Amino acid sequence: MKINFGCGSKKIEGWLNVDLFDSVEPDMILDMEKTPWPFSSNSVDEMLFSHVLEHVGAMPNDFLNIIKEIYRIAKDGCVLNIYVPHPRHEHFIIDPTHCRVILPATMEMFNRDKNLEQIKNKETITPLGFFHDVNIKVQKINYIYGFRVREAQAAGVSEKEIQKMIYTELNSIQEIRMSLLVSKEWESI
Ligand SMILES: C[S@@+](CC[C@H](N)C(=O)[O-])C[C@H]1O[C@@H](n2cnc3c(N)ncnc32)[C@H](O)[C@@H]1O
Repeated sequence: MKINFGCGSKKIEGWLNVDLFDSVEPDMILDMEKTPWPFSSNSVDEMLFSHVLEHVGAMPNDFLNIIKEIYRIAKDGCVLNIYVPHPRHEHFIIDPTHCRVILPATMEMFNRDKNLEQIKNKETITPLGFFHDVNIKVQKINYIYGFRVREAQAAGVSEKEIQKMIYTELNSIQEIRMSLLVSKEWESI
């Protein structure tokens, strides 16, 4: 089974398209903030969260419950496709229903294998995967640039300058698309 969470009007054929609002006529109405979700454990092969995770779980525990629920229903090897607006882009800033910044590093905090290394090295980072029995690894990251970066690239601006621009200027990165892998096997500490 493949699930497209917060599908809005972008439904995908062959997937289960779920959304909070019946006005977009999803296959199933689901409020992601109300857990548990009506799916069996270890039952989902692939999930898509296209511009939805930044809308849910304003309170940290609510967000953690959503991550734990994603992990519960995922099969070992399940692929999670997460698309979010970049927090320094107007697409993120303008929407009052955006309640949380999600970066690849945010999702890497749920990488339990990495957490064990961090614990061993006494790093100052909360090992969220370890604390919540979740193991999710970021596999691929694709940054979709805004028009100013695209223009600069086309004009032959150096990579060093482009990176500086990305770090310092608003609207440089429009969207982040990441692909994550769920792993249900892990070593104990
Ligand atoms: C910005 S739209 C993205 C729609 C579509 N995925 C896309 O990429 O165009 C966010 C979607 O998330 C849905 N959504 C917001 N909160 C939700 C919740 N608690 N449970 C399920 N869906 C939710 C909204 O109804 C809306 O369709």
